[in-house]
Amino acid sequence: MEGKSFIPYSYEYQDVETVASKASSFREVMDQRRTIRAFSDEPIPGKIIEDIIMTASTAPSGAHKQPWTFCAISDHDLKKEIRIAAEKEEYINYHGRMPEEWLEDLKPFDTDWNKGFITTAPWIIILFKKSYQLTERGKSKNYYVNESVGIAAGMLITAIHMAGLATLTHTPSPMNFLGKILNRPENEKAFLLLPVGRPVEDVKVPNISRKKPDEVIIWK
Ligand SMILES: Cc1cc2nc3c(=O)[nH]c(=O)nc-3n(C[C@H](O)[C@H](O)[C@H](O)COP(=O)(O)O)c2cc1C
Repeated sequence: MEGKSFIPYSYEYQDVETVASKASSFREVMDQRRTIRAFSDEPIPGKIIEDIIMTASTAPSGAHKQPWTFCAISDHDLKKEIRIAAEKEEYINYHGRMPEEWLEDLKPFDTDWNKGFITTAPWIIILFKKSYQLTERGKSKNYYVNESVGIAAGMLITAIHMAGLATLTHTPSPMNFLGKILNRPENEKAFLLLPVGRPVEDVKVPNISRKKPDEVIIWK
């Protein structure tokens, strides 16, 4: 058990012009990020994936419980097993389980039940949330699990983009098949599936726009 122990935090003071320039250039870089649905099969070293995941794992979390597990998979047979199970669920989704409004909202993305990217991308990362901790003394509580894991997911996506790779935030719903295939303990629930790699050379993305500042910010 960690007691009360505080260490100095090395904050580097930068003048406001530097801060403004950094904020603005980071905004530009992040505005280039797009969700990719067609991946090249070019291999990516595991160390890169480790760095990306450990960046995500610096995320803040309720009471610092770090309630996440990242399962990084490059094994082709395992990816194939996951793809088959995901496509089984997605086939049902696209053939009656998703309401008409949802299918209508998905039209601009031209998605269907076929999830070839799961086997093509060199890596898939399955992010699991830990609803509670399993310790030698039994169960212990985690706090704000969805918020914490959502923040870690955002940082993962940012780290992937900043490394020069691409991803797709995939939610093959329902996702409980992932825990079964990957043999995860009962306290872990699959949160997202993210293929990671490079896009195919001639990749196209949906022509969509982002909300403008006055649509997302209220100044008081
Ligand atoms: C929680 C979440 C779930 C998503 N699930 C899927 C999915 O299952 N399949 C898919 O093709 N895209 C999925 N997306 C990607 C969105 O369609 C995409 O982020 C959105 O269209 C905006 O495009 P952009 O990421 O290129 O800015 C998901 C995104 C989020 C945040």
